[in-house]
Amino acid sequence: MSLLFLGFPKVQVDSDPVMQKVEAIFKQMTVAEKVDFCHGTGFATRPIPRLGVPAWEMSDGPQGLRGNDGEKATYFPTGISLASTWNVDCAKKQGIAMGEEAQYYRKGVILGPAINMIRTPLGGRSFEYMSEDPFLAGKLAVNYIQGVQSQGVSACVKHYAANSQENERGTIDARVDERTLRELYLPAFEMAIKEGGARSIMAAYNRLNGTYCAENSHLLNDILKKEWGFKGAAMSDWGAVHSTIGTAFGGLDLEMPGGSPRDFMAQPLLNAVTAGQVPMSVIDDKVRRTLWAIYSGGPGTAVANNPEHWAITRAIARESIVMLKNANSTLPLDPAKLKKIAVIGPFADLKQGGSGGSSSVYSPYEVTALQGIKTALEGKAEVVYAKGAETGEQVFDAIPTSAFPDGLKGEYFATKTFEGEPTVTRTDANLDFDWGHGSPDPKIPNDNFNARWTGTLVAPKTGKFILGTSSDDGSRLYVDGKLVVDNWGDHGVQGKSVQLDLVQGKKYQVKVQFYEAAGDAVVKLYWSMPNADSDPLLTAADEAAKSADAVILCVGTTHQYDTEGSDKPDMHLMGKQDAFVQHMLRVNPKTIVVLFTGSAVETPWSGEAPALLEAWYPGMEGGNALADILFGTVSPSGKLPLTFPNKLADSPAHANGNYPGKNGTLHYDEGLLIGYRYFDTKKLAPKFPFGFGLSYTTFEYSNLKVKTEGHTATVTVDVKNTGKVAGMESVQLYIHPHKSAVERPEKELKGFGKEMLDAGQTKTYTFKLDSRAFAYYDVKAKDWKVEPGNFDVLVGSSSRDIRSRGVIKL
Ligand code: BGC
Repeated sequence: MSLLFLGFPKVQVDSDPVMQKVEAIFKQMTVAEKVDFCHGTGFATRPIPRLGVPAWEMSDGPQGLRGNDGEKATYFPTGISLASTWNVDCAKKQGIAMGEEAQYYRKGVILGPAINMIRTPLGGRSFEYMSEDPFLAGKLAVNYIQGVQSQGVSACVKHYAANSQENERGTIDARVDERTLRELYLPAFEMAIKEGGARSIMAAYNRLNGTYCAENSHLLNDILKKEWGFKGAAMSDWGAVHSTIGTAFGGLDLEMPGGSPRDFMAQPLLNAVTAGQVPMSVIDDKVRRTLWAIYSGGPGTAVANNPEHWAITRAIARESIVMLKNANSTLPLDPAKLKKIAVIGPFADLKQGGSGGSSSVYSPYEVTALQGIKTALEGKAEVVYAKGAETGEQVFDAIPTSAFPDGLKGEYFATKTFEGEPTVTRTDANLDFDWGHGSPDPKIPNDNFNARWTGTLVAPKTGKFILGTSSDDGSRLYVDGKLVVDNWGDHGVQGKSVQLDLVQGKKYQVKVQFYEAAGDAVVKLYWSMPNADSDPLLTAADEAAKSADAVILCVGTTHQYDTEGSDKPDMHLMGKQDAFVQHMLRVNPKTIVVLFTGSAVETPWSGEAPALLEAWYPGMEGGNALADILFGTVSPSGKLPLTFPNKLADSPAHANGNYPGKNGTLHYDEGLLIGYRYFDTKKLAPKFPFGFGLSYTTFEYSNLKVKTEGHTATVTVDVKNTGKVAGMESVQLYIHPHKSAVERPEKELKGFGKEMLDAGQTKTYTFKLDSRAFAYYDVKAKDWKVEPGNFDVLVGSSSRDIRSRGVIKL
């Protein structure tokens, strides 16, 4: 232990007034108080009233304050929307507004931004994350954090690191080579800490190269604290701690959530200290860091749910909507030329802010597409609405008690085994439990337990039933001794089902096995009868579409796909929406398709659609922002922060068979080549490239100039709005090295900027490139290396639309 301890990075007790205050408190703390300070409560640190140390209250919040008691807060466009703006001012404004709301609700920390790289289109939390590119995510995070912290509230950047999938997120071992880690998965965090000054960071659930992130000394001690000079508190994701001594030495400062003396960082830590296994100086460092983070906060503007914040959400949403297609200038629609517009689709009038896991927000209102369009066309044109189809969410009812005349024998095991005698045996009327973070019985722990139910099911009808289990974590269903549903594995609430022919009055022996690892414990045995009726929804949509001058068709994915704890099963629109879109395009060819998705989806029908917009999860003012774009109040300026492949199999992790991992291990064998880095290097065509997005106007690039100084450079380029309307243009700068001793991606984003240009106006965009823009991570030297030579500087409107080039000689 002492060897391990030698290189432990300790926070400096300097003359900084906050550190001095921390020291004054720290000196009065007892050993027990210090150790107790290393685990929290539900959503706060533990207060020390004797010394006047308050609880450091936390709130989830990449896209709005979630609060812990149903507080109402502004629901901002989600992370992927924010990234689509390519505008650091948007991130700053959102950060400031969120800091103000956190002040209002007396929260000291916002658990956000969430900045993991989007490695696969299936990642359940892609909607919360920002990009497949670390520079874009990093710069936005820096501004978001600076905004939040300008209001005296701390930001907690998450989830550190390589938490790129939700399937098996609690245990999966991400195997990532050092160079890939440094160049792809860490830079956004590095920027968030070094440039953004984030005062806290959240260690991810997963393992990295064999070790849980919450006890990963390489991540937390070597890189975060030693190399990056992080002074603040490293907390765990909720329930992500797995050991006492490993975590103590691994560099984590705060176990979250907490509440029991049995927490790893509670009594067991005190025992380890008493036994001399963990030196007190290790605890001291953790305590100082958390105190420093707490006392670095202070006063700020305290206001929530004010029209100014709502206006910010609308402005961000406007800039985030990406126009992917606009054949023959279909858009904008001119309200003066419209008599009747049909707003159709399961997403046209759907509110989504209140779901999706920990990032959900209870906003005072949410303007749907339908409402936004109605408001915009009030007194100008008739708006008709038809839902047309279901979202495709599978909502099944628990099998009712009546189907189990004798109930189910429930056997609960206090450990993760089905062997030996159960700890508790009882009769359960049916299977529909949500124990939250609790347990089914006082004799059963909250985590790491098994349960089994057996009994007789009597079918009430003859027909094709869908039978399934939904559970968090794993479950299996056996019917008459045969395994029919295998929903085993660590995951959030996830349903799996099978279709079975059942006969009325017949008895079937059912058995369900369940286990709970950590976090929420949920299990349900459900069924549904297939619906063989004709489709009245579609008939109504046909009617509405036929007579309309234009159709706005709103389709997408709900938070049943875009969620925490499980990944999306595929890259399609949910349910039968692809067929539905194709059908509606035939009914009325003037159908403008609007996607509401959390990540890339396949759009096999896009050739037939005259116009296509990606609206993501656009926040509480999303419908108004969409109307602003549709009717040309503003020109679209959003650009994709990730690549849309033609199909899932084209995406690098999938093309190489590196998803979702095998036997608990996930090899990132594609290395540096994710997203556009892969498509560009391998010269493959994506469906829509990274950085792509159309406008109602056109821009001309000229006069690129490069000035080099040592290993840094300044690049300027003139951009002229050559169209008839004002518009914003995000200009992107990529670097391509001519030669290198190591394999490098074809090009990498190293600068971006966004300006508003009036029709005819020219502005000069300036990009400052530091040495990192040219460097690669030299694993042997454990440092960044700039190779002398030539680098192409590629400036353009998207990763595949380079308009100006130059060469930088280093
Ligand atoms: C999520 C975190 C979140 C935490 C607290 C976890 O399940 O992964 O992002 O901040 O819960 O709600």
